[in-house]
Amino acid sequence: MPESRTPPLSLFRFALQWLAPYHWAVAGASLALLFTATITLSIGQGLRLLIDDGLAAGRPDQLNQAVLIFFALVVALAIGTFARFYLVSWLGERVVADIRRRVFDHLLTLHPGFFDQNRGLEIQSRLTADTTLLQSVIGSSVSMALRNTLMMVGGIIWLFITNLKLTLIVMVSVPLVVAPIIIFGRRVRGLSRSSQDRLADVGSYVGEMLGQIKTVQAFNHEPYDRARFAGVVEDAFAVARRRIVQRSLLIVVVIVLVLGAVGVMLWVGGMDVIEGRISGGELAAFVFYAVIVGSAVGSISEVIGELQRAAGAAERIVELLQSRSEIAPPAQNLQHLPAEIEGGLQLDQVTFFYPGRPDQAALDAVSLKVLPGETLALVGPSGAGKTTLFDLLLRFADPQQGQILLDGVDIRTLNPADLRRCFAMVPQQPALFYGSIEDNLRYGRPEASMAEIEDAARAANAEEFIQQLPQGYQTRIGDGGIGLSGGQKQRIAIARAVLADAPILLLDEATSALDAQSEHLVQQAMDRLMEGRTTLVIAHRLATVTGAGRIAVMDQGRVQAVGTHAELLHSNPLYARLAELQFGL
Ligand SMILES: Nc1ncnc2c1ncn2[C@@H]1O[C@H](COP(=O)(O)OP(=O)(O)OP(=O)(O)O)[C@@H](O)[C@H]1O
Ligand SMILES: [Mg+2]
Repeated sequence: MPESRTPPLSLFRFALQWLAPYHWAVAGASLALLFTATITLSIGQGLRLLIDDGLAAGRPDQLNQAVLIFFALVVALAIGTFARFYLVSWLGERVVADIRRRVFDHLLTLHPGFFDQNRGLEIQSRLTADTTLLQSVIGSSVSMALRNTLMMVGGIIWLFITNLKLTLIVMVSVPLVVAPIIIFGRRVRGLSRSSQDRLADVGSYVGEMLGQIKTVQAFNHEPYDRARFAGVVEDAFAVARRRIVQRSLLIVVVIVLVLGAVGVMLWVGGMDVIEGRISGGELAAFVFYAVIVGSAVGSISEVIGELQRAAGAAERIVELLQSRSEIAPPAQNLQHLPAEIEGGLQLDQVTFFYPGRPDQAALDAVSLKVLPGETLALVGPSGAGKTTLFDLLLRFADPQQGQILLDGVDIRTLNPADLRRCFAMVPQQPALFYGSIEDNLRYGRPEASMAEIEDAARAANAEEFIQQLPQGYQTRIGDGGIGLSGGQKQRIAIARAVLADAPILLLDEATSALDAQSEHLVQQAMDRLMEGRTTLVIAHRLATVTGAGRIAVMDQGRVQAVGTHAELLHSNPLYARLAELQFGL
């Protein structure tokens, strides 16, 4: 992720906006923050009393009292710290949970084109890495920054109150001590960030390799992957080693400078004590405040880098939340479909370009009419635009020209959800989700009964193989349906569409992975299913569509001809050639 130079201020605005619903917790946390800072600062006074009134005066009763006060302060500090820590961490977790949910909900509404060009991985990292960063920042760094600012200001005030001369000496020497620490600290942070980034790069690479392990091994590609992975890991190690060197130096600098400064302070102050200008308790309190101010400054400089990084994360999340879906219900003149639609489809001079390929039309002035209840087959060479046509019907994208009508209504005037409930689709690559077979079938209609699910499986000729699985319908299938054959996946997808029971069917090579016998059985089931429904079916194997009423031949984004099998054999050279290749006519 690129280093962001966003000022932390915008992060505060971002955090405030998400914290707003929890103002009581915020108020409680702020109170606890103030309370603990005050107590910590007053411990210095307790120390002074302890030494001056108890030890120096040699009076046990005073010592007792001072120690009691000290313990009271400690208890109050413990309670306050508990409240602060709990509330602040709670807020961090709560806000991040809200952000994660909002981002995910928003992602689901975006048009599919948004995730093209591998942005999926990047977005996934925003949802996990960026929100985790925000969590640690809102859940600790912000409060650390506030607390240390309070301590610093309070500590400085007490320094002045305690001893003016020593304070002036400290003020002059603070930059000498703090500057090198800040410089080393910054170097360490920069290095640790770049080693983290390098490892993050590896993450998606590993995921890809493991997902495609069969391809990796089949091509004996392991040595290359090994070398590539080793390179990245060793790079990260080299960066880490430089970081460790800087970090070790930082520790040396801190010990020498800070403790050295304390030593000098003790010497100067000690002289004053010996000469009776100040009391021993004053000196102790002074050293205490000096240490507090010093460590507060150190913490703030640490935290600022983190806040900067979180500001970048916040910015990326805001950007994601502000991205608008290109597919949305119209702002005005929203049309509604009746509960029962007829299912007539019409494409009118539809032209569509993919954003990634502005020079070549995926669909070029396509006009088609499908009557309610009719079955229309789409055939044509690979890349002709058949799947693209389905995508437009479902409004995964809108055409640049022309319009698509459903029962005479322009689909752009509909709510996309209203439109999509009219369709059941079997996609070219069946999608299975992690879960049981039953969950996967139910996807098409979450409220379906078990009997309906079984009916659908039977109709798709899937029942037999499901029953042979170890736990039948409860068998869990992994990411992308590992553990099922291609044809089995296809039948699950068909059963899902059967269950969805929508008036229009879109079948994109639904039976391409089935053997001849299963295909025949599924075909019968499909014929039953198609009855009374508008159906668009894409097929490479002409044998499966010769029975369809009409066939549209597509090539290079155009519809060349529409007709029956017999008509096209005579009138359309492309169709005749396809038929010749497949049937050997
Ligand atoms: N997301 C995309 N971005 C850019 N171009 C795309 C995208 N998806 C498809 N295309 C291009 O659009 C054209 C039509 O693709 P489409 O998937 O509709 O073909 P198809 O007819 O379904 O082919 P097949 O029979 O192989 O499934 C092709 O040239 C393809 O390269
Ligand atoms: Mg296709």
